[in-house]
Amino acid sequence: MESLIRSFILVAVLLRPVYANITVYGITGQQVLDGQTATNTAAAANYTGSAAYNPTVLNAPQIPTGDQAPATQFTIQLQNGGTSGLSITQQGSFLGFSIEMSVANQVLGKNSTFIQVPFLNLMANLAQRGGAVNIRVGGNTQDFAVLVDSLPDGKILQKDINGASNPTNTPPLQFTEDLLVMMRKISEFVNVRWYLGIPFNDTNWRLGIVERGEAILGDYLLGMQAANEPDLYADHLHRNKTYGPNDYLGEVQSLVSAMKSDSNIQNPNCLIAPNLATGDWTPEMVWDTGFVDALDSSLAYLSVEHYPTDNCAAQFGSGTLRDPQTEFPNYLNHTSGQSIVQPYLNSTAFAQSKGKKFLMMETNTASCGGFAGLSDSFGAALWALDYSMQMAYGNFSGALLHVGGQNVFYNPFTPPPTNQSTFHQWTIGPVYYSTLIVAEALGTSNQSQILDLSANNNNIYTPAYAVYEKGNPVRVALFNYITDPSGASDYTASIAIGGGQTGTSNATPGQVKVKYLLAPSVSEKSNITWAGQTFGDHFASDGRPTGTESIQTITCDTSANTCSIKVPAPGFALVFLTDDALSESGDGDQTTMTFPTTAYTKLQNTATVDPQVLATSNGDRGGQLGSTSKGSANGGMRVTMRLAGTLPWMILMTVLGWCFW
Ligand SMILES: *[C@@H]1O[C@H](CO)[C@@H](O)[C@H](O)[C@H]1NC(C)=O
Ligand SMILES: *[C@@H]1O[C@H](CO)[C@@H](O)[C@H](O)[C@H]1NC(C)=O
Ligand SMILES: *[C@@H]1O[C@H](CO)[C@@H](O)[C@H](O)[C@H]1NC(C)=O
Ligand SMILES: *[C@@H]1O[C@H](CO)[C@@H](O)[C@H](O)[C@H]1NC(C)=O
Ligand SMILES: *[C@@H]1O[C@H](CO)[C@@H](O)[C@H](O)[C@H]1NC(C)=O
Ligand SMILES: *[C@@H]1O[C@H](CO)[C@@H](O)[C@H](O)[C@H]1NC(C)=O
Ligand SMILES: *[C@@H]1O[C@H](CO)[C@@H](O)[C@H](O)[C@H]1NC(C)=O
Ligand SMILES: *[C@@H]1O[C@H](CO)[C@@H](O)[C@H](O)[C@H]1NC(C)=O
Ligand SMILES: *[C@@H]1O[C@H](CO)[C@@H](O)[C@H](O)[C@H]1NC(C)=O
Ligand SMILES: *[C@@H]1O[C@H](CO)[C@@H](O)[C@H](O)[C@H]1NC(C)=O
Ligand SMILES: *[C@@H]1O[C@H](CO)[C@@H](O)[C@H](O)[C@H]1NC(C)=O
Repeated sequence: MESLIRSFILVAVLLRPVYANITVYGITGQQVLDGQTATNTAAAANYTGSAAYNPTVLNAPQIPTGDQAPATQFTIQLQNGGTSGLSITQQGSFLGFSIEMSVANQVLGKNSTFIQVPFLNLMANLAQRGGAVNIRVGGNTQDFAVLVDSLPDGKILQKDINGASNPTNTPPLQFTEDLLVMMRKISEFVNVRWYLGIPFNDTNWRLGIVERGEAILGDYLLGMQAANEPDLYADHLHRNKTYGPNDYLGEVQSLVSAMKSDSNIQNPNCLIAPNLATGDWTPEMVWDTGFVDALDSSLAYLSVEHYPTDNCAAQFGSGTLRDPQTEFPNYLNHTSGQSIVQPYLNSTAFAQSKGKKFLMMETNTASCGGFAGLSDSFGAALWALDYSMQMAYGNFSGALLHVGGQNVFYNPFTPPPTNQSTFHQWTIGPVYYSTLIVAEALGTSNQSQILDLSANNNNIYTPAYAVYEKGNPVRVALFNYITDPSGASDYTASIAIGGGQTGTSNATPGQVKVKYLLAPSVSEKSNITWAGQTFGDHFASDGRPTGTESIQTITCDTSANTCSIKVPAPGFALVFLTDDALSESGDGDQTTMTFPTTAYTKLQNTATVDPQVLATSNGDRGGQLGSTSKGSANGGMRVTMRLAGTLPWMILMTVLGWCFW
């Protein structure tokens, strides 16, 4: 089979940061088409392909009636200055990604000379809006990872299947330093900062990842996780049955002394803990051991990892079987995010009292891969957006959406299966749009503070948030979770600021700008637009949004002093109250470059490259191709890409066989 496969891979090499330039060399070889392409016409019931392309479409929940039905006209009164209950200040990088370590070589690149261009584009979109992107490379597989000098065929990652000796059969993951070099190169292209994890499968500390991680990533390394969900270690048979929070504290203390006595480690005070799943332990059980005071300066962040529910029964035959259609309404209201965040509010307050930031290191719709038709729906995009804003309001300092392999439903982005990379592009999941919008809502000022407005009499289907900078509201986020094609459930929010006359310092502006996240239904999977732009259906994206960006200008009513914003059912609107609020969210930013890739085609036995796409780099908003001179004028980066011929087929590192909480 391998001999049949011809792959074209983009080679992205950082030369030096001069100006945008794309060089394309010739291509040779032929592709083999695969019949596995998922289409919406495929019978979902009989679909046997990868979860990432599952065609299941659920039914949107019924339109709420009676007391549950929201008013379709309501006022949001805001004030400049003097508003209480605001969150701590937040950064535009609040919502990032947690990439399962075993799939890093599919998502990030094959090695430090083969970086995935769509991945760079996806990150560039976010960095432009929020200033930076925070990514964790880790997960269950980090606990068994072993840094090795080299692997066969220049691989940077491999599962040592024969070495699976532990009771849950998690195969040890072997990786080379080149994984870290690849991450460093990515950071030099786009402002991506990283979290890593220290293997915890036993306490014979393997500190190679700390030694090499800090040496290679430098300031791009934000911290190192000390354990991954230690509250599940006893259940997963990685520790004995009596293993508790005090044992965990003892282990982290042992780790700290090992790190302090390792002369190859410059900064031992980089730990992220306790990363509880909040399964068998509460965070308070850990705090109450004196954990934070005992470890104090060694702790860079406090953290948890949590999913609201699981789909382990369907995936692995263990636990309660849950029906996606029945679960769907549980994600489509404001209570959902609130109820996930509520159990952590005591801990975010505790973290503040100790001068620490509190992170959600891994989350998504449901563990064990999410739910078909739910995790990959427009409803999930609204949910992830509301849940993230709720975390920001609840004084988390960041959250990471988990990215698995081909076998999960919830990915924000999925590269094509390795052997289809010649003729398929990436699949962008609905929750990726949520990351774009969180980045824009919080922007690049580092001053943003969030308030849940309890809007519309606290109706659960029409939540709203305001974002403040230096005490003044700058952006308003408006949700409508209802699906009602008749238009009867669309609502109009009238935003008023202060009570003063238009033009005075505490008054409604004369006009505002609005961007919409839209789809025809919460169950929609591909026809999703953010400000008129989309990443399309399965296998359709090179990581840049397509279509013309559309930003609405709403003229406010100067006699009533209100700005009336319509929000369709379903839909979401981000209202920019000032022009600065828009420019701080990356609008009009010409400095971020995106990276064109080949235009793949599905034509039999040919791969054609659209020379225009390849010849034009741009420093403009993705999707609007500019000229190379823009990158030049703005001191962008010089990128050389080469299409290489035949490559050996790399082992598919899909995560199989165990539940990755
Ligand atoms: C791009 O690179 C090519 C080949 O190195 C060079 O001839 C060309 O002048 C460069 N263009 C710009 C705008 O730098
Ligand atoms: C790609 O790999 C999958 C999974 O191993 C296999 O089912 C499929 O036939 C392969 N396709 C091609 C074109 O080799
Ligand atoms: C699934 O396959 C079975 C057997 O081939 C067929 O009878 C059934 O109609 C298919 N279901 C759908 C929804 O296409
Ligand atoms: C990267 O991978 C390619 C193909 O697998 C290989 O040819 C190349 O030598 C590798 N580069 C490094 C630096 O290992
Ligand atoms: C922990 O993982 C390493 C590397 O995979 C392995 O050598 C070691 O035996 C494991 N320890 C236990 C207790 O399973
Ligand atoms: C269980 O583990 C704890 C610490 O991890 C250790 O102190 C204790 O001796 C172990 N108990 C048994 C029965 O192995
Ligand atoms: C909050 O956390 C602290 C520290 O663990 C604990 O002492 C306190 O009892 C907790 N409060 C509540 C209401 O859970
Ligand atoms: C709203 O979501 C919550 C939390 O997921 C769920 O328990 C509740 O049933 C949902 N309400 C409705 C009316 O669907
Ligand atoms: C977040 O922290 C701020 C500042 O300490 C506090 O005033 C606010 O009540 C907290 N918010 C929540 C929801 O706990
Ligand atoms: C925001 O914080 C980041 C990281 O801490 C920093 O790099 C950036 O310069 C800050 N931006 C502003 C506008 O202060
Ligand atoms: C896509 O969704 C929009 C609403 O968001 C709708 O107006 C449009 O008709 C849909 N297009 C297709 C092809 O379904």
